[in-house]
Amino acid sequence: MKINVVGLGYIGLPTAVAFANAGFEVAGTDCSEAVVKSLSSRRLTFEERGLSPLFLKAVKSGRLTFSQTYSDDAEIYVISVPTPYDGFSKKVDPSYVISAVKSVVEVCREGSVIVIESTVSPGTTEGSIKPLITKKVSLAHAPERIIPGNMIYELRHNSRIIGAEDEATGERIAEIYRKTTDGEVVVTDIKSAEMAKVAENTFRAVNIAFANELAKICNHDGLSVYEIIRLCNMHPRVNILSPGPGVGGHCIPVDPWFLVGDYPELTKVIGNSLYVNASMPDYVLKRAGEIMEEKGVTDYKRVGIYGLTYKENVDDFRESPTLQFLKAQREHLAEPLKVYDPYVTEDIVENQYHDLDEFLADVDFVIIMVKHDEIKEKMSKLADKIVFDTQNICNLPNVYKL
Ligand SMILES: NC(=O)c1ccc[n+]([C@@H]2O[C@H](COP(=O)([O-])OP(=O)(O)OC[C@H]3O[C@@H](n4cnc5c(N)ncnc54)[C@H](O)[C@@H]3O)[C@@H](O)[C@H]2O)c1
Repeated sequence: MKINVVGLGYIGLPTAVAFANAGFEVAGTDCSEAVVKSLSSRRLTFEERGLSPLFLKAVKSGRLTFSQTYSDDAEIYVISVPTPYDGFSKKVDPSYVISAVKSVVEVCREGSVIVIESTVSPGTTEGSIKPLITKKVSLAHAPERIIPGNMIYELRHNSRIIGAEDEATGERIAEIYRKTTDGEVVVTDIKSAEMAKVAENTFRAVNIAFANELAKICNHDGLSVYEIIRLCNMHPRVNILSPGPGVGGHCIPVDPWFLVGDYPELTKVIGNSLYVNASMPDYVLKRAGEIMEEKGVTDYKRVGIYGLTYKENVDDFRESPTLQFLKAQREHLAEPLKVYDPYVTEDIVENQYHDLDEFLADVDFVIIMVKHDEIKEKMSKLADKIVFDTQNICNLPNVYKL
């Protein structure tokens, strides 16, 4: 059976690799010439733990190939292109999915199935995708749940929801996904699958917002939010997530907006939660200012930010709290702060360092924004620094927490 995976980014590429290693013939399509060139010459386009050997295995088997064109002989098309939200209306921006599906419909055979893996708001498939289907082609939705940094494990073990127009299509697609995961694969209708995916990420966003708000309350009263959460989570039916310097990535700060955009009158808790999360980089900036005052640090040139990515141990910095923090900081201060991240090898901000020791030699006050394993393993290097640890990983004496 041939599968055409369309969009070879953080989701599409590992998915294509998993299908190929499960024995399917996989054509990977990406509109970016650079992505196709790189993958065709066996160079990965991003770092992901454990992906490289599986990628090479799939490519060497001859079952995984890459091109900019869409297959005209695939039975299944899996669409994994971006779905940002419109900054003004907050609704999902389905333009990438629409464009990809249009390209597929032009070439695909009757009887094939188009599976949308991209996250979309409830009703998008019916309202925006179905009108594009001018042939006898079925639609399904298989939202992806894997987390960068642990994608390979989760692709193998996560359960999956398959939304389909009819039971037969759902089962046909579920059988394919059962070859790639040991998790349960359940079939439902398309709108329920769309809603479930967005609701999962919204639940996490709201829970994180609660933890963030609790951090602000605890700090106001001189309490440790981490101790309070530890105590609360001893309750058998309470599970508060961790507060942090903000929420980044393409899922948790994005998908809940789809609901706010579509149901503005019904999403008071969700909308306010998103604003609380979005306030955290500013809150970190305010707290950093207070710590500097308390410790008598006056030279901004001696302040450094550890971590640029949106989460630990990945190289993806899109929507990262550090970038939001730096934007807020530059509104108050012309001087760009020093920044270091072991995973970001290109220069994306001013004053960026690429060596931990050089970075630490130039700063007295370090704000930890990302809990990369590197800094956890080398924490003793911060012993003579003032540290603002927004991730609760440092137990040195001179440390301040959220
Ligand atoms: N990254 C995550 O952690 C994650 C997790 C779960 C779900 N998702 C969802 O998966 C989807 C894909 O996200 P991603 O992070 O992989 O995006 P990405 O930006 O990493 O990759 C998307 C790829 O699609 C390509 N593309 C865009 N339009 C195309 C077209 N018309 N034809 C062919 N290729 C096209 C781009 O060139 C790019 O390489 C999104 O809906 C996202 O919300 C992402």
